[in-house]
Formats: sequence, structure tokens, C-alpha cells
Amino acid sequence: MRVGILGSGLMGGKLGTLFARAGHEVVFSYARSSKKLERLARDGGKNAQAGTPREAAQDADALLLAVHWSRMDDVLKQAGDLSGKVILTCSLPMNADNTSLVIGHTSSGAETLAKKASKARVVCAFNTVPSEVLFGVYAARRKANRPNLVYCGDDARSKEVAAGLIHDVGFDPVDAGPLRIARYTEPFALLMGQLAYEGKEGPELAYRFERFGE
Ligand SMILES: NC(=O)c1ccc[n+]([C@@H]2O[C@H](COP(=O)([O-])OP(=O)(O)OC[C@H]3O[C@@H](n4cnc5c(N)ncnc54)[C@H](OP(=O)(O)O)[C@@H]3O)[C@@H](O)[C@H]2O)c1
Repeated sequence: MRVGILGSGLMGGKLGTLFARAGHEVVFSYARSSKKLERLARDGGKNAQAGTPREAAQDADALLLAVHWSRMDDVLKQAGDLSGKVILTCSLPMNADNTSLVIGHTSSGAETLAKKASKARVVCAFNTVPSEVLFGVYAARRKANRPNLVYCGDDARSKEVAAGLIHDVGFDPVDAGPLRIARYTEPFALLMGQLAYEGKEGPELAYRFERFGE
């Protein structure tokens, strides 16, 4: 697939690199310096290039949206027409100092994004793991018991695209249901952040669900 990265920071930079390593064509976009995008493209190898948000969105089979909540409107504006595009968002609706969610309970960042980009198909994914775990999960992808990654969305075809990308970077995807379930996955992402960054074991934290009983 051709994957456009909108926001090439901790999440977008790492996931884009892994998508490229997994064989997808990646366009890194939206950082404060073009040098950074060029470095990511160089490190990503023959499958990666740098571009503008509009170039990243053009012909993309999927877009990864990985910006701070305060940059959402700007990056969407720069990306242009997103009609019919599959957007995987890992962006959490955080306040300026990243201490709390500014949307919750009766809606979510993912649902708010789906209203802003009303012609796109939004899937909420990759928000429930710290970026520090991503390379380790990819390196261990051939081992048994991959970590899970929850995702949710309303469009079945877009969710298949998301599940494929989640699988390609080493996770076992868990379909949590429609997009409104992001109201639960976004606070869960904060719990993961709490355990990862405030815990004693360091930030390389993923999770796995087990079902017990029959
Ligand atoms: N980091 C995590 O572990 C994690 C985990 C789960 C969810 N999330 C969520 O994922 C989203 C992205 O997080 P992140 O940690 O990847 O953030 P980040 O490292 O700050 O990346 C954001 C990207 O946006 C770019 N950017 C910011 N302001 C800009 C501007 N004015 N013009 C152009 N580009 C600009 C940054 O450029 P520079 O590269 O130049 O700084 C960076 O590439 C957030 O919503 C966060 O809540 C993060």
C-alpha cells in the first residue's frame, strides 16, 4: 500500500519507518523542518520519501494521522481533499500540556475528527501504545504471542486496511467495534501512558488480552 504520514514525530516517524520496512510505500510529511522529513525518508530506504501533507494524501491507500490535537485543523487543511481516504488516527485529544483529554465520555477525538473530515473513513488505531515499544514489537513479530493492539471504526473495508497495517508492524489486531468505542480506547491510552512513563519498568510497554473460561 501507499501510506501517507501526516505528522512525522515520535509516532509518525517510527510507524512510517516500520511501514516502509514492511514493504509499503511511505510519504513522510508534516514536521517543523524539511530536513527531518528527508532524514526519515533516507533512513526508510527505497520505499520512503518526504513530501507535503497534500503529496502524502494524494494517491494514498491509507493515511496515518499523528499530530498533537492542537495541530489537527492545520494538518487537515494542508492535506486538502480527503474524500474517500482511509485515515488511521493515533492522535489523542489532549490539552496543551498533555495532562488530560479535552474530549471524553460523550464523544472522542476520533469521532470529532470523523466530523471534521466527514468524507474520509476514520479508524482509531495505534493510540494505545507508547512509541518506545514500536521497534521492539516489530523486531519480535515472528515470535508467538504478539502483543494486541485495539482499533475501532465504522467502515468495514477501512478496518481491514487498518488491521493489515497493525499486523504488518508486529501486533495482533483486536477489533473493538464502531468508532464510538474510541471513547473507551482514548482513556485506555492514557492509562497505558501512565504505566509506561510513570511506571518503574520504563516505557517499552505493550499489552495482550487473554480470554479465560469456555
Ligand atoms: N508519543 C507516543 O508515545 C504516543 C502514543 C499514543 C498516542 N500518541 C498521540 O499521537 C499524536 C502524535 O504524538 P507524537 O508523540 O508523535 O507527537 P510529536 O512527536 O510531537 O509529533 C508531532 C509531529 O507534528 C509536527 N508538528 C508540530 N507542530 C508543527 C507545525 N507547526 N508545523 C509542522 N509540523 C508540526 C512535529 O514536528 P517535529 O518533528 O519537527 O517536532 C512532529 O513531526 C498525539 O496526538 C499523541 O497524543 C502519542
